[in-house]
Amino acid sequence: MNYNDFLDLVKGRRSIRKFKSDPIPDEYVNKIIEAARWAPSGANTQPWEFIIIRDQALKVSIMKIINALRGSDKNSMGNQITGEPDPPAVTKAPVFILVLGDMRARIGLPGKAGQDDRKWQSVLTSSLASAFLYLHLAARSLGLSSQWQSGVERPDAGPALRKLLGIPDYMQIYDMIVIGYPDMAPGEKRMRNIKEMVHYDFCGHNEFRNDEEIQSFCKRDR
Ligand SMILES: Cc1cc2nc3c(=O)[nH]c(=O)nc-3n(C[C@H](O)[C@H](O)[C@H](O)COP(=O)(O)O)c2cc1C
Repeated sequence: MNYNDFLDLVKGRRSIRKFKSDPIPDEYVNKIIEAARWAPSGANTQPWEFIIIRDQALKVSIMKIINALRGSDKNSMGNQITGEPDPPAVTKAPVFILVLGDMRARIGLPGKAGQDDRKWQSVLTSSLASAFLYLHLAARSLGLSSQWQSGVERPDAGPALRKLLGIPDYMQIYDMIVIGYPDMAPGEKRMRNIKEMVHYDFCGHNEFRNDEEIQSFCKRDR
């Protein structure tokens, strides 16, 4: 693969929020997990576990749990396109993959790092984020689309999700990816300018965006 092919893959991965119900072959799901398995992780702890959810009733229950909480929370990420809680339509997607982090893998961190709560949480989150992004890119490489469903990591969603799926306490619920064939085309993506975000050597306050610039970029249609 050359750089241009890689960049095409990266640019082609866009968040899709409406899916067809067409099934995904098991082989594709296995390939997606295989890619994530090779993600980098702190001290090679590979702290991830993947729950593949295909059962329709379970998919609906999961979305009900997180949508109910989002509905009662004005600050929720929700469905970032419409501002509404995610529609049950997302359960049309054939596969959800819930990513968990095994907190017992902490023993894999060397020396003092293993005793430092902040360090371990940072390692765990970064490791899981790496695997999570590989899931998205692998799905894209197979002609599939994906959506991030970060509502699952809400602490208040934890008890219901744990009960529903049998997830033990030592597993941290990281995030969930929805995968399927797209039933919508993504809109144009607003991008920050590369010059604005790259800095060389010493850089001070004036190099970075001011509050108004950040506000103007972030205040967009969600
Ligand atoms: C940490 C994180 C959490 C996200 N949570 C959600 C979510 O709960 N629902 C959703 O529809 N999109 C979610 N997204 C997707 C972002 O809205 C999306 O990546 C962003 O708008 C850029 O669009 P793109 O993915 O098409 O490039 C999340 C993305 C990240 C990185």
